[in-house]
Amino acid sequence: MIQHQLLAGKRGVVFGALDEQSIAWHVASQCVAEGARITLTNAPVAMRFGTIQKLGEQLNAEVISADATSMDDLKTLFEKSVEILGGPLDFVLHSIGMSLNVRKGKTYTDINHEWMLKTLDISAISFHKMMQVLYQTDAMAEGGSILALTYIAAQRVFPDYSEMADAKALLESFARSFGYHFGVKKHVRVNTLSQSPTRTTAGSGVKGFDDFFSYADAMAPLGNASAEDCARYCAALFSDYTKAVTMQNLFHDGGFSSMGINPAVMSKG
Ligand SMILES: NC(=O)c1ccc[n+]([C@@H]2O[C@H](COP(=O)([O-])OP(=O)(O)OC[C@H]3O[C@@H](n4cnc5c(N)ncnc54)[C@H](O)[C@@H]3O)[C@@H](O)[C@H]2O)c1
Repeated sequence: MIQHQLLAGKRGVVFGALDEQSIAWHVASQCVAEGARITLTNAPVAMRFGTIQKLGEQLNAEVISADATSMDDLKTLFEKSVEILGGPLDFVLHSIGMSLNVRKGKTYTDINHEWMLKTLDISAISFHKMMQVLYQTDAMAEGGSILALTYIAAQRVFPDYSEMADAKALLESFARSFGYHFGVKKHVRVNTLSQSPTRTTAGSGVKGFDDFFSYADAMAPLGNASAEDCARYCAALFSDYTKAVTMQNLFHDGGFSSMGINPAVMSKG
């Protein structure tokens, strides 16, 4: 693992490490290798089914259970994290996504709207809730960095991504809107990182995942960005080398988002 002590002395909270495949698992490991001290968090159900405790032991990081849709859980989580880490937070990663409609095979034209509300709450509104708690409790350090992971289906149509596309569009909007308030208050940066398809529990849950993984890989001149690549980019965005980057949706996709056509894909047809 490449490491440069980019985050020496920094404190952070990482949401969403479920197992070794999770993007957040890689980000947490990279941040600690770069000198940060962190707490890890996930939903109570993930504590039972995932392997987050193992990561906590590896990284010497406290694992705190919190449902990211619960304001009370979020308040307790950030309060405990500031106490354990010994001061305000320099960075926070939101790496959370879940769609009941996708999971249960409901198509976009036959959505269960009760489930859709749940999807929006878990996958997008939790980002606003998290930032509101951090803002109101003054838990972020001056010049800190907040980041959420997103996907290009917020801008372009990927039919099988279904309602998650709408959740991601909302998530990216929250980064801009809250980024203004956090910038003015404490020079805190808020961005979204738009990642290539990556083989994880959430990723592989999308119908046809293998096909659009291969398509994106062939289309992008650099190929798909891996979870390890993503972890290094996150570390850079949490570091002092990106102090003036805020309210952006940053594509991390090997160039996929700028492509129109690639002969490598055409010749496959
Ligand atoms: N895998 C991909 O292809 C890909 C591509 C672009 C963006 N992303 C995004 O990356 C992020 C992480 O996903 P991943 O691919 O690592 O999959 P993952 O399944 O490992 O991570 C999703 C996480 O969300 C957590 N979660 C679900 N409900 C929660 C709740 N109520 N409270 C707290 N946590 C909750 C899960 O426990 C899990 O840890 C997601 O936002 C996803 O949309 C993934």
